[in-house]
Amino acid sequence: MIKITISPINELFAARIEGIDVANPRIDEVFDEVRQAFDKYGVLIFPDQRISADEQQAFAERFGELESFPEASMQKKTPKVYNISNKSESGDLLGKDSVQARMLKGTELWHTDSSYRDVPALASFLFALEIPDSSETGGQTEFSDMISAYEDLPRALLEKLNGRHMVHNYEYERLYVDTELPPMSLDEKLNVPPVTHPVIRFHPHNGKCSVYITSNVGDVIGGYGYEEGRALHRELLDFVTQRKYVYQHQWLPHDLVVWDNRRTMHRVIPYDIDKQPRVMQRTTVSDVGPPVAPWMNKHSHTL
Ligand code: OGA
Ligand code: MN
Repeated sequence: MIKITISPINELFAARIEGIDVANPRIDEVFDEVRQAFDKYGVLIFPDQRISADEQQAFAERFGELESFPEASMQKKTPKVYNISNKSESGDLLGKDSVQARMLKGTELWHTDSSYRDVPALASFLFALEIPDSSETGGQTEFSDMISAYEDLPRALLEKLNGRHMVHNYEYERLYVDTELPPMSLDEKLNVPPVTHPVIRFHPHNGKCSVYITSNVGDVIGGYGYEEGRALHRELLDFVTQRKYVYQHQWLPHDLVVWDNRRTMHRVIPYDIDKQPRVMQRTTVSDVGPPVAPWMNKHSHTL
């Protein structure tokens, strides 16, 4: 019988799981435990994994159906395994002005994956193949716990958010953050039109609520005038990303990190994208339905 060790990283969220190679078929024996840990801790770190793209895909598929990505240019091997990399297929650094590097800049803003979809991502799996070699140079990934942040929201802020939604628009980055990125084709636009999601969501697996916002595909809380909605978004973002809610992951090669996009946000700390190779392999599991707000769910408490 396999025995895994689950070690919480701090008192709010995130845990390390040791004692299992995720590609080992015997993971069947402990998968329920892993899945429960995912719902409980929100971020799971599996150190020292030796997995191929196919093995990563197979592990992710245990959690649900995989997403394909809108950008063909970022795909590795199959549309379901994605390159988070500043190197070309031939292994050269692409340089900061390349489209691929510019796209990666968007991950420096706090966000939750695929929130621009009607049914966003449940879980993301990021496997480190090559990382910048010193902690001084950035490249860490930060996670912020949106359940703890929700539970601490000041009453006045909570009241302003009750019943509100936010527009998540895939095109936002090209329109407002980096206008040099190639424009989206009509096909791409039709594929990922803007969507709205409640800013407070109910987590069906643990009965808790969390804040659900982004800053890389939108910056306005809906239902207010534009300036007021933007100011409220900024206030909320600042609140939920206070250091006390954040875990910073310092990568080692062969770390596999899995996070719950329903209750965490994340961002990469900027690094020298021109000079420091950083190569990650990502797979993403889709959720089973759109986010549900507590005010839409009769089983959750009212605000
Ligand atoms: C991602 C992402 C952050 C990182 O893959 O979705 O945001 O540290 N990555 O590369
Ligand atoms: Mn991301």
